[in-house]
Amino acid sequence: MILKNKKVLIIIGGGISAYKALDLIRLLKKNNVSIKTILTKSGKEFVTPLSITTLTKNKTFEDIFDKNSEAEIDHIALSRWADVIIVIPATANLMTKLSIGKAEDLATTVLLASNKDILLVPAMNVRMWLHKATQRNFKTLLDYGYNFIGPVKGEMACGEYGEGKMSSPRQIYAYLKSYFNKRNLVKNKNYKAVVTTGPTREYLDPIRYISNESSGKQGYEVALALNKLGIKTKLISGPTSLIFSKDLTIKKIVTAKEMMNEVKKTLPVDIAVCAAAVSDYKPINKNKNKIKKNISNIENIKIEKNPDILNYLSKNNKTRPKIVVGFSAETENVVQNSKKKIKEKYCDLIIANDVSTKEIGFNSDYNKVFIIDKNGKIKSIPKNKKSFIAASIAKIILDKLLMNDKNIN
Ligand code: C5P
Repeated sequence: MILKNKKVLIIIGGGISAYKALDLIRLLKKNNVSIKTILTKSGKEFVTPLSITTLTKNKTFEDIFDKNSEAEIDHIALSRWADVIIVIPATANLMTKLSIGKAEDLATTVLLASNKDILLVPAMNVRMWLHKATQRNFKTLLDYGYNFIGPVKGEMACGEYGEGKMSSPRQIYAYLKSYFNKRNLVKNKNYKAVVTTGPTREYLDPIRYISNESSGKQGYEVALALNKLGIKTKLISGPTSLIFSKDLTIKKIVTAKEMMNEVKKTLPVDIAVCAAAVSDYKPINKNKNKIKKNISNIENIKIEKNPDILNYLSKNNKTRPKIVVGFSAETENVVQNSKKKIKEKYCDLIIANDVSTKEIGFNSDYNKVFIIDKNGKIKSIPKNKKSFIAASIAKIILDKLLMNDKNIN
């Protein structure tokens, strides 16, 4: 039922496991899935367009320069048509091309031009899989947001045993079922999220302000990742140099007060993620003119505490989001201090990061975090790209939300 009328674009790569794609197609067709296929040049060495078309009842696309059916093989149209794209088998060569963004044939062009979820099903000899180059590509592709099914351990076509064996058509089928199940749930529930990010600026006069080093990158990536999971996400961002994706709803603000007002306007939401580095204090008054530099003027600057947006969200009984997530930037005792913060701030999850080094955290593209829940359960994510970390955070949030709703219903 879940798979009925879903549109799956299957890209068949050049490996001996390509024949298993035919089994997968049969399984999916039995469940009324619509299938279109792209067969790569080397894939054609293992399976024929005729056998694929016989099973899919659709043309097998091969060439990017097919003059006879130009409209039909438009790479954008193929991607637009699909609910999801699956690459089976994802060979070491294909993974390399994807990791460097090569677009040399129909398959790689579609993959580069698509904004749909892409599932890669690797299959290769164990040493090829474990080779540093392949492992580096694997990491890069995870970071780009590709999803992997397998590989698993087992005996391979070459007679060797180890990691690199392709997941079976049954395992891929089960993955797709749970993938669409989750997507359906999210769609039906019409989940909404708000994410705050970046610094805030608290002006002393027209040109001077209190602010901090935050680049807004991590919060932005979390918003993108939630959006990608099908959750309608609004990002409220302080001043940053980020170039935002058009896929997201963005509201730019400057001060903490403006951030708070925008957050309030967005309620009710199911998820709130406070990644912003809100200035703790603000001048009580903003001077109309540039403050002259005499000591009494400086001494007369009065500051007050800014409102705590995270606290407001998590303590607000009427419109409390189901999942409230805070961030904790620490320079020492990261986990211990963050566990304290989760209690003080009444949130469900806290993302703790160590900002003691320049290499990770503020301004860097990398981060290293601990995801701590209110029961004290800790998941550590070693140093990785902020986009990768964001995808892990988004998945944990969604699973918590689905679990939460299941228990309530
Ligand atoms: O107390 P501390 O500033 O360390 O807490 C950090 C967490 O609180 C972050 O999630 C941050 O976005 C949030 N916060 C907030 N409003 C403030 C201060 C912090 O939402 N005024």
